[in-house]
Amino acid sequence: MMKGDFPVGEFVGRKTPFYFYDLPLLERTLDAVRSAIGNRPLWQVHYAVKANANPEILRRIAAAGFGADCVSGGEVRMAYEAGFAPSAIVYAGVGKSDDEITYALELGIGRFNVESSAELLVIEEIAAKMGKVAPVSFRVNPDIGAHTHANITTGLAENKFGIFHEVLPEVIRLAQGCPHIAYKGLHFHIGSQILDMSDFVALCNRINNLTDRLERLRLPVGDLNVGGGLGINYEHPNHLPIADFQAYFDTFKRHLHLRPGQALHFELGRSLVAPCGTLICRVLYVKQGTTRQFAIVDGSMTELIRPALYHAYHRIENLTSDEPEQLYDVVGPVCESSDVFAKGVSLDACRRGDFIAIRSAGAYGESMASTYNGRPLPGAFFFE
Ligand code: LLP
Repeated sequence: MMKGDFPVGEFVGRKTPFYFYDLPLLERTLDAVRSAIGNRPLWQVHYAVKANANPEILRRIAAAGFGADCVSGGEVRMAYEAGFAPSAIVYAGVGKSDDEITYALELGIGRFNVESSAELLVIEEIAAKMGKVAPVSFRVNPDIGAHTHANITTGLAENKFGIFHEVLPEVIRLAQGCPHIAYKGLHFHIGSQILDMSDFVALCNRINNLTDRLERLRLPVGDLNVGGGLGINYEHPNHLPIADFQAYFDTFKRHLHLRPGQALHFELGRSLVAPCGTLICRVLYVKQGTTRQFAIVDGSMTELIRPALYHAYHRIENLTSDEPEQLYDVVGPVCESSDVFAKGVSLDACRRGDFIAIRSAGAYGESMASTYNGRPLPGAFFFE
């Protein structure tokens, strides 16, 4: 049944490895987000461009009316070129360069998510020179751990991100004294691939306390941006291809004490694009090791680094074979022992030339690709 979901016939003759993007699934996912939000005009989702900056994917998400969340001047440019309105672009990052700040001010982006008072003062200085006023939110480090991989939690006090919540009042006062800064609100992000809604409840509680504290000090809160982080089901990409957006948005509806007229922003990345992308490779060789059997494929960590970097699980399927399953270590050609997609997985018996699908690779796949070992960047196949 599964194999039928991929137009394998159209893969023949195509240069592998490449990314296969299921655009109808992307559209269904974007629809699911919209219907889970319902009629809440003050809620806006900014797609986290870092998850996948393929121009076609960006164009589709822009056309569906989403904003963009960027972390570099390059991403701001890609978002703008793909059709995102500058006013719907938000820009975070602990190390924005002067050139990047200047470009974003010229374009007139909607928001700088500022991560330190040092950065605030540089934005003030550059905006003053340009005769502009920069719209600014502060990224707050909420000191909340998420139940996810250590390399992708960002909201702990020990992480480099954001301004520690204790010092926020003084930083807001500093902004209020800057004539070229318009203070707009607060930004948070606790981590990625989060499936336990209690992590987001903890974030809501932290934001509620902070809001009360700022109001007691008669300081403005402005609007709220709760970042991204909603996870997807990597184990069952066929049965559960769309993330649980309803549970996610309901969590904020129920636990966040929004004030009348207060806008709420989200920055979802993975949950919008991971399921629609599959890395398609071919088997080069089947090699019998002394203790294990290897399926050596032509894709590698240079197209999809997540297994090597985070020991991330991606479901793997042989799209060509129907022969009885065998156990394989699925590995790539790169000269690194960590260039392994999976160890001891059961696949329909592999032969040279079989098409292998590495699923749920639409987020942090193509966007993290490299040319290490002199390898070309992967191409893309858009299934309409
Ligand atoms: N907003 C901010 C400020 C972020 O740092 C991130 C992701 C997002 C939004 C989007 O998070 P998402 O909804 O995609 O979880 N390369 C890693 C993930 C790194 C996430 C970095 N920040 C991976 O492959 O798992």
